[in-house]
Amino acid sequence: MRADTGFDASRFANPAIASLRAYDPGHDLPLLRQRFGAQIAELGSNENPVGPSLRALEAVRAQLGEVHRHPDPRGGALKNALAARLGVDASRIALGNGSHELLMLLAQCFADPAHSIVWSQYGFAVFAIAAAATGAQSLCVPALAADHPYAPYGHDLVAMAKAVRADTRIVYLANPNNPTGTWFDDAALAVFLDAVPQDALVVLDGAYHEYVDAPGLTTALRFADAHPNLVVTRTFSKAHALAGLRIGYLIAHPSVVAVLERLRESFNVNAVALAAAEAALSDRDHLARSVEFNRGEREWLRGELVARGYRCLPSQTNFLMIDLGHDASTLEKCLLGQGVIVRPMAGYGLPHTLRISIGGHAENERLLRALP
Ligand SMILES: Cc1ncc(COP(=O)(O)O)c(C=O)c1O
Repeated sequence: MRADTGFDASRFANPAIASLRAYDPGHDLPLLRQRFGAQIAELGSNENPVGPSLRALEAVRAQLGEVHRHPDPRGGALKNALAARLGVDASRIALGNGSHELLMLLAQCFADPAHSIVWSQYGFAVFAIAAAATGAQSLCVPALAADHPYAPYGHDLVAMAKAVRADTRIVYLANPNNPTGTWFDDAALAVFLDAVPQDALVVLDGAYHEYVDAPGLTTALRFADAHPNLVVTRTFSKAHALAGLRIGYLIAHPSVVAVLERLRESFNVNAVALAAAEAALSDRDHLARSVEFNRGEREWLRGELVARGYRCLPSQTNFLMIDLGHDASTLEKCLLGQGVIVRPMAGYGLPHTLRISIGGHAENERLLRALP
């Protein structure tokens, strides 16, 4: 056997991948759970503390007896349910192992080193990774200013439209955006879509769509007929509380879906996730309760944080971003030492901010008690 001393596979990795850094999964949660037990407050991953619909849990249990079988590779039942709910043809829907997978697949299928991909500074982290992995040129557009009146650090749609070039194949938008929580309304999106040529896909990531109730912000799907280059991604991880099962979907022109189908893994979404998502979709009351809980708790928590002197960015999501105006790592460590996990944002270039997910009421109270 030859010794592997000096062996370094990164030397001959695909050059686009060699330049990437591995995803930062945050703190070692199993270890922290052991250390803090019931006293932990998990406010770092934008999970839904209400949990999924009981119908979804029943569907999971029923499906467990069938795990020796492959999942339906077409996901037909879920696609039909989504199509009926959204008022679109099922040929416009693709399913993913989380919407993360679909965001990556879009870049892989539509961009290569001869192209460019546009995304916003402080836009969702996966956009930069998806772009870099294709070898396409990343055109990262500076975000709106920190003191912008309604979207601090948010997407500057005017500048993003200007950044689009003849070789641009994808523009990634998140509405609302993670980690900033900021959003733009339908009118701004309409102007943006008119300005972008049709051979660039506008990928609008709506992971937090169900939480949205801002005036003038409805659904990007209303623009789908007029703009065949619009792709809307959504997920069952947030408002439907199925993050652990990994299932998301997108709505796009059938020709976009057909291209994605060529590269999609045949069984990318597992059978338990398919069944749970279909059941979750049918339980509108549970979804409404979940969204209502989030809204109430978020606005209460915002009030409490503001009363303690923190600057909270506007949010249409299940998290708040606080801006300390100075390095936030001391506060993050202080909270972590008490079992309160929040997400530091230095990796996004926002070291003076922290992202705080809306937890259950007891967790949110624990956060407030832990603040210095
Ligand atoms: C804006 C945004 N898009 C997409 C995702 C990915 O969600 P999932 O892969 O769980 O569907 C997330 C998850 O945090 C997100 O915040």
